[in-house]
Amino acid sequence: MSTARRLAVVTGGNRGIGLEICRQLAERDYHVVLTARDPDRADEQARSLDATCPGEVSGLGLDVVDAESVVSAFRHVRTHHGRIDVFVNNAGIAVDGPEHRPSAPDFTRVRRTLETNLLGAWRCCAEVVPEMRARGYGRIVNLSSTMASLDLTGSASSPAYRISKTGLNMLTRTLAAELEGTGVLVNAASPGYTRTDMSPDAERPVEVGADTPVWLATLPDTGPTGQFFFDRQPLAW
Ligand SMILES: NC(=O)c1ccc[n+]([C@@H]2O[C@H](COP(=O)([O-])OP(=O)(O)OC[C@H]3O[C@@H](n4cnc5c(N)ncnc54)[C@H](OP(=O)(O)O)[C@@H]3O)[C@@H](O)[C@H]2O)c1
Repeated sequence: MSTARRLAVVTGGNRGIGLEICRQLAERDYHVVLTARDPDRADEQARSLDATCPGEVSGLGLDVVDAESVVSAFRHVRTHHGRIDVFVNNAGIAVDGPEHRPSAPDFTRVRRTLETNLLGAWRCCAEVVPEMRARGYGRIVNLSSTMASLDLTGSASSPAYRISKTGLNMLTRTLAAELEGTGVLVNAASPGYTRTDMSPDAERPVEVGADTPVWLATLPDTGPTGQFFFDRQPLAW
């Protein structure tokens, strides 16, 4: 297949870790489709990266919870770019908070979290897989969290967020198993506790939080699949 400039789609690219993933991919000469719920914000951030990075950056509206928005965004990408080499499932919300307990669930927040972090990501994967499988090349990166780890969790806090990301990890494993041997590599990454609107008190800069997702997005054909990484090292499920 042609190795002309690779095309990467990133969700939630308007701020935080997603914006930094877009920047690092554009630095590596990728053509990045920076998507965001607000299409004007997507365009604005894309223009600013496009002006400063060697790659190309285009903006596009995409709300992962809205099935029509997802279908139409990926149709737009296929029509205008003809390929999807990399897909980064970055969009995410954390709305249940440390006081939320699994024994007293607020199912409004639980549903909202699952709709975005798990079903939104899954819906987008279903859009990109046929194209990647047909072309025999693809890198799918799911932004998970150390809080998703069954092995490492001893806390009762934020159950909706944790469960959504553990589900995303299982999506990673099952999709990777389905796509074994097709050239499509599917992995999950924890960016670590990173300073963004989601975690304003964190010390880790977005440049570091985005490093492992970008590493997974740019893996060689011999790279791992169906794995979970933090700082480029395997993380316990
Ligand atoms: N920061 C951390 O410490 C940390 C740790 C572990 C994992 N993560 C994960 O890393 C990813 C990025 O987090 P972040 O820290 O950069 O968070 P953030 O600053 O809050 O950014 C979240 C991004 O997701 C977007 N988003 C939310 N709902 C969406 C939807 N329905 N459709 C499309 N986009 C949507 C937001 O768009 P709007 O601007 O429109 O709201 C925003 O661009 C998330 O998946 C998060 O769970 C973060």
